[in-house]
Amino acid sequence: STQRTIAVLPGDGIGHEIMAEAVKVLENVNARFKLGLNLEHALVGGSAIDAHGSALPDATFELCARADAILLGAVGGPKWDKLPPADRPEKGGLLEIRRRLDLFGNLRPAILYPQLAGASSLKPELVAGLDILIVRELTGGIYFGQPRGIRVLENGEREGYNTYVYNESQIRRIGKVAFEAAQKRGGRLCSVDKANVLEVTMLWREVMDDMAKDYPDVELSHMYVDNAAMQLIREPKQFDVVVTGNMFGDILSDAAAMLTGSIGMLPSASLDVNGRGMYEPCHGSAPDIAGQNKANPLATILSVAMMLRYSLAEPDAAQAIEDAVSKVLDKGLRTGDIFSPGSTLVNTVEMGDAVIAAL
Ligand code: NAD
Ligand code: IPM
Ligand code: MN
Repeated sequence: STQRTIAVLPGDGIGHEIMAEAVKVLENVNARFKLGLNLEHALVGGSAIDAHGSALPDATFELCARADAILLGAVGGPKWDKLPPADRPEKGGLLEIRRRLDLFGNLRPAILYPQLAGASSLKPELVAGLDILIVRELTGGIYFGQPRGIRVLENGEREGYNTYVYNESQIRRIGKVAFEAAQKRGGRLCSVDKANVLEVTMLWREVMDDMAKDYPDVELSHMYVDNAAMQLIREPKQFDVVVTGNMFGDILSDAAAMLTGSIGMLPSASLDVNGRGMYEPCHGSAPDIAGQNKANPLATILSVAMMLRYSLAEPDAAQAIEDAVSKVLDKGLRTGDIFSPGSTLVNTVEMGDAVIAAL
């Protein structure tokens, strides 16, 4: 088979630690399933600022642009928080990759592994069998709207401002991702907005309603974001697919993560119109535990599985990884974030080794 290139971008903080484990797992299935993947590493975020003076060096972006898929750890940290916004790891690195590669379709599956029911912050019966897909628009909305900035008013005080904007085609293309996902799953789609206040989401709701006519097999509902946050905690299993804008999706997906036991369990895919994409855990660089061999690498390992399934058409290798994760959880091995009494505490490296052993 032909060689395919995977861009590996560990980033900052625990990004290095979780990526080392994900790479071990990817190299293992690469050999076992003869995938012909060639892994190329590059710096992004704070580590790239330190080495090259830019959160997204040209060489890193060129690698991302030509790679068949991108695997990213996490970026950011206190060391770079005082830089001008556009230079920081988050905006200058991560959001720049998303924007320049047009990775608008963010899939964040919140699935409860039955073994982790006790690690969820909700009662086991509320989360048993939980399987939600959050479809988050990733290259528009208030994250990217213009104008934006901090300006000085006539009275001398400063004012910060951002613009929450979506045009119809942006709404339609994320709607298409979400309706098609719902067709392949339980047939239910909940669009989350703030259409009681914000015009941008009044348009969002109108467009979703219009699109629903083309998907008679999908049952579309609407929910205000404040209620959605509450319903996620009250009765999360009412949701199948959730579609929402960039910022609401960011917030709701962290909340959904906790239902599955930990943010350390939630993988993601960020796709362009052709299904090419970047894969990353939903969590950040966790400065509070960085360098301590404590972080849960499973969200990144499960992101490898998503990459194999969505961008590389290797469902068997993806399934093997997901099954291996399940076996490790069966054995009772837990990093600190998913630990519960009676289970065995392991560190980042031990968790990665256990996944390899289970493969
Ligand atoms: P965070 O997700 O890094 O951490 C939040 C909490 O979750 C922390 O207590 C952390 O220890 C814990 N946690 C996160 N991932 C974990 C894992 N794999 N295993 C165990 N525990 C884990 O969010 P934050 O603290 O708000 O942000 C820290 C930095 O990360 C900031 O610079 C932020 O901008 C950045 N960030 C980056 C990404 C990304 O690169 N995709 C995502 C979110 C935040
Ligand atoms: C995420 C992160 C990013 C986001 C930050 C680091 C820019 O929180 O991927 O969820 O808000 O999209
Ligand atoms: Mn986030």
